Amino acid sequence: MSEQIFQPNPKFAETARIKSMDDYYALVKKAEENYEGFWGDYAKEKITWKEPFTKVLNESNAPFYSWFEGGKLNVSEQCIDRHLDDKKNKVAIIFEGDNGDKEMITYLELHYRVNKFANLLKNEFGVKKGDRVVIYMPMIPEAAFAMLACARLGAIHSIVFGGFSAEALRDRIQDAQAKVVITADGAYRKGKPYMLKPVVDTALEGETPVEKVVVVQRNKEDITWVSGRDYSYNEMIDAQSSKCEAEVMDSEDPLFLLYTSGSTGAPKGVQHNSAGYILWAQMTMEWVFDVKPNDTYWCTADVGWITGHTYIVYGPLAMGATTVMFEGVPTYPDAGRCWKMVEEYKINQFYTAPTAIRVLHKMGEDEPSKYDISSLKVLGTVGEPIDPPAWKWYYEQVGSSKCAIVDTYWQTETGGHMISPLPGATPIKPACATFALPGIIAEVVDVDGTPKPIGEKGHLCITKPWPSMIRNVWGDKERYVKSYFGDVTKEGKAVYFTGDGAMIDEKGYITITGRMDDVINVSGHRMGSAEVEAALKKDSNVAEVAVVGKPHELKGESIFAYVTLKTALDETRFEDDVAMVKELNTIIKKEIGNIAVCDNIVFVPGLPKTRSGKIMRRILRSIAKGEEITQDISTLEDPSIVKQIEAIVNA
Ligand code: WTA
Repeated sequence: MSEQIFQPNPKFAETARIKSMDDYYALVKKAEENYEGFWGDYAKEKITWKEPFTKVLNESNAPFYSWFEGGKLNVSEQCIDRHLDDKKNKVAIIFEGDNGDKEMITYLELHYRVNKFANLLKNEFGVKKGDRVVIYMPMIPEAAFAMLACARLGAIHSIVFGGFSAEALRDRIQDAQAKVVITADGAYRKGKPYMLKPVVDTALEGETPVEKVVVVQRNKEDITWVSGRDYSYNEMIDAQSSKCEAEVMDSEDPLFLLYTSGSTGAPKGVQHNSAGYILWAQMTMEWVFDVKPNDTYWCTADVGWITGHTYIVYGPLAMGATTVMFEGVPTYPDAGRCWKMVEEYKINQFYTAPTAIRVLHKMGEDEPSKYDISSLKVLGTVGEPIDPPAWKWYYEQVGSSKCAIVDTYWQTETGGHMISPLPGATPIKPACATFALPGIIAEVVDVDGTPKPIGEKGHLCITKPWPSMIRNVWGDKERYVKSYFGDVTKEGKAVYFTGDGAMIDEKGYITITGRMDDVINVSGHRMGSAEVEAALKKDSNVAEVAVVGKPHELKGESIFAYVTLKTALDETRFEDDVAMVKELNTIIKKEIGNIAVCDNIVFVPGLPKTRSGKIMRRILRSIAKGEEITQDISTLEDPSIVKQIEAIVNA
């Protein structure tokens, strides 16, 4: 099946923004012939500038690129105010809670609530341009209001996913030197309340840069209040004025930070700036999802991840669309939840992660057919490769073989989609991200920039800067350069390397082959092996540890840890093992959060290392997969360790 090509639905193509591959190639050509002209024209057309930009792209300080210099704008106005003329009564956000409660927020109402929130932050807590505000929130509309309120003031938000632990939250607060935290008492998941505020309390113990905590009420559970630090949003918001002048921002003023895992060290604060980011967020919404004025669009991500930033909040609102925010999980109360919501809201574009598709498929092959989901036009996936069986089910059972599936490849660092089918144009090859979007120059190359021959795996690079690219690693320019521009050069110039491998077929289709570094992709979430290893090393019994990804039926990858202990476990081995595994996973939950829990932890007498002491994770990955070791192990410090580890894993 994987070689079969699926043509776009001709009826859909008729009205699509990009209607054919001819259209697509024309845009690609336009960008190739006049790169700055291409981007400059779109920037003029799509952004409501307060002052026009004077330069499209400045490369003089490469790889610190700047876009649309001289331009002034405010992203919250781009997302709200400019729609008030013709869309004020249009629904901007549809919220559905875990328990089914609903809220429809029009653009006018969104304006009202964001302005009030901005005034609360500004007048009561002194938040101003450039301040960092950490948002640790559930999926409720106030999370979007908080983001947009920061944008209105020019404050830089840094959202920390609600599944991260107090330690992880503390690290991110420290790194960003955040002044304010916005959180909620908690929220609901699978019919039950869960808590967030106590996690914030722990994260703020001891010395902290945080002065104030704003708490939104959601589940109304009891929480403790620290006097002089914690304030109730619900008690204070009514008194705020609903008019807050938007700060005039430069194109390159920072909009937000979002921490993400790399292959080494602590998470990096990926910095996105204002104009370039919002431009591409809007353009990709229009091209890739092709949302029409009366459409309802739903992305199931969490605002704690980049997908939630760009494709729940910023992209949809910048284009004036109706976006759904869902607090719950796709499997509660049953595997029909998503399809029920699609039926009820007449969802036209549905965007989710392969891991959710695999779970829903497994739980109910025919579940979608129990609902009227005929409103669907475009289905999207993101975050990890989608496997052909999941793709087929999505295409046939969810999309009734008439919807395009846009397998969107991108990263926190890229701000928006890089490689993706266009629903009205691209003949789709299942489980393949297909072609780079117009304006994006994606190449599969060797480290010296030589293009890889057809069918051969190489480094996936974006070889020209693009408007929504990462601008910096917060507070660490050197790390920015080293992490993204340290591996591949083209014509002697450092180019952006994604960290992913890819290959191109004879027709030019790009297939992502997965990370080339030590990043593990668990249910579409990036986990750095170094981070998990650092957490495990906090246990005083642990001598050494190496963490790798192991293919997992539902999660894509699971985390597999090889641990050597300071003292061998004794005779009652089995029980000791179980207790130790539990202890180690408890540490991981504390240091990072549940998302980093290891499915496998094995205790081994040593790790395969080169003579210079480098751990050969490649060998450990093969063992975890149950593959035969084909790599040359003769260069290892102690080749016999491989057999010993294999015996333990396969026991
Ligand atoms: C992986 C998520 C295959 C890839 C938006 C990338 C994908 C990492 C795809 C970024 C896809 C994302 N096919 N792999 N369509 N989309 N990835 O930063 O390894 O959370 O580098 O951004 O996810 O993950 P991140």
